[in-house]
Formats: sequence, structure tokens, C-alpha cells
Amino acid sequence: MTYDEYYAVHTQNLRPTKYWIDPASFALQASFFPFQKWGDTHTEFERWACPLVNQTGTFQTPDEACAPLDRINFLKKYPQYEGKVWTDAHKFDWDLYFKETNPDDMILEDSFQMKTPALSMTSLDPIDELKPFMLRSCILLWHYGGHFKKHIDNWTPAQWIRLWGTTKPSGMVLRYEEKDGQGEVMVEEKNIEAGRLYLHDSIKPHEALAYQDDVYQFFIAMDSKCLEKIDIF
Ligand SMILES: [Fe+2]
Repeated sequence: MTYDEYYAVHTQNLRPTKYWIDPASFALQASFFPFQKWGDTHTEFERWACPLVNQTGTFQTPDEACAPLDRINFLKKYPQYEGKVWTDAHKFDWDLYFKETNPDDMILEDSFQMKTPALSMTSLDPIDELKPFMLRSCILLWHYGGHFKKHIDNWTPAQWIRLWGTTKPSGMVLRYEEKDGQGEVMVEEKNIEAGRLYLHDSIKPHEALAYQDDVYQFFIAMDSKCLEKIDIF
């Protein structure tokens, strides 16, 4: 999708779709599936993930679907930094990697296309028509203090779109970067409906934080061509 095509549908940061997942039955069913810590760094935070679409269709730990993809790509070239704290050398090689490496040579969302058993839980039946288009997707489970710092997940031309939702909007915040007179400020999204899936503008910098326990989030990437085939609104 070109920039104009992307923003023709991303008319707000979080655009409600017609899809709704019952939070109570989802939370009950999700509790039977295996969750692993998100990524290899900052594992002191309570950020857990269970893959819905990964590279094998089976559960394994660690799973590259359950980590930041910039980190996964970096560790392919610099495995010595796995699980290591940030040092000057670590940061230097990180910056060098992204300066030297073409995104076309990286593992991206479309490298993940195999559905895991978790995608078959009956509480996810409302998204059946989305499943053929799903790329790298997870259930995130955050407890108090779990967060993602400000980042982006997409760019144009966009090959994927992202859907997002949470079972517990009263226990977390999602903020997007907005311009005001002085510069950029982070502004909280209000009126998020529990269980609703939203088209999420992940080109715009955003950050999230859980301030209660047991906050599930739907972390879904889909081939952008799906918008030509199905009406998600
Ligand atoms: Fe994100």
C-alpha cells in the first residue's frame, strides 16, 4: 500500500473493526496455552506471549514470533548479544547493523505464516475470515509494569496492516505520538472497548504500558491485500 492508500483506511489511530472477541471466554481458553517471555532483553518485565501464527505451526521456546523482529534480525548476525545488557559495543553494533542491512534481507512479518493450535480456540471464531490473511501474530499477556517503549512497526509501501485489541482497557494505556505547538507529545487513546479489534496505525510512533495484571492484547499482522478481499469495518 502506498502512503495514500494506507492512510485512506487508517483514518484514526485506532479504527474500530467489526470483530469482537469475548474477553472472558478468551481469557479462560488462553490460560490453557503456553506463554513465553517476550524477547531476550528486559525479561524482568512481565511480558508474555503465545504465538497464533509463527514459522512452524507448533509451540517452541524461544519462538521468533514472540520477540521484536528488529532484535531477531540483529541476533542472527550478532548472536553473542543474546540476553545481554546494553553496552557501548552492543549499541555500536546495533546501529551498524541497521545502517548496513537492507530490510528486504530481514525476517519480517510475512516470514511467519503457520497457524498454531492457539488460533483454533473457539473464542477466536469471530475472526475466522481473517485467518487466511494472518501473518506473524501473538497473544500478549502483560502484568503490572509490562510495557513497550515508543516504537513503530510498519512503513510505506506497507505490506501488512496491524490489528490490535485488549481484553482489559481499564488496566493499560496505549499512547500515540501527536504534534502540538511545542513538538511531539504522547497522547493516550480513550474509549477502547474490551475485546474489540482495531485497525492500528503502527506507522505512527506508539507506546503501551500495563498497570494491572492479566492484561491480554491481540497482536495481529495481516497481509495488506486482505483489505481488497474482505470488509473489516
Ligand atoms: Fe507496536
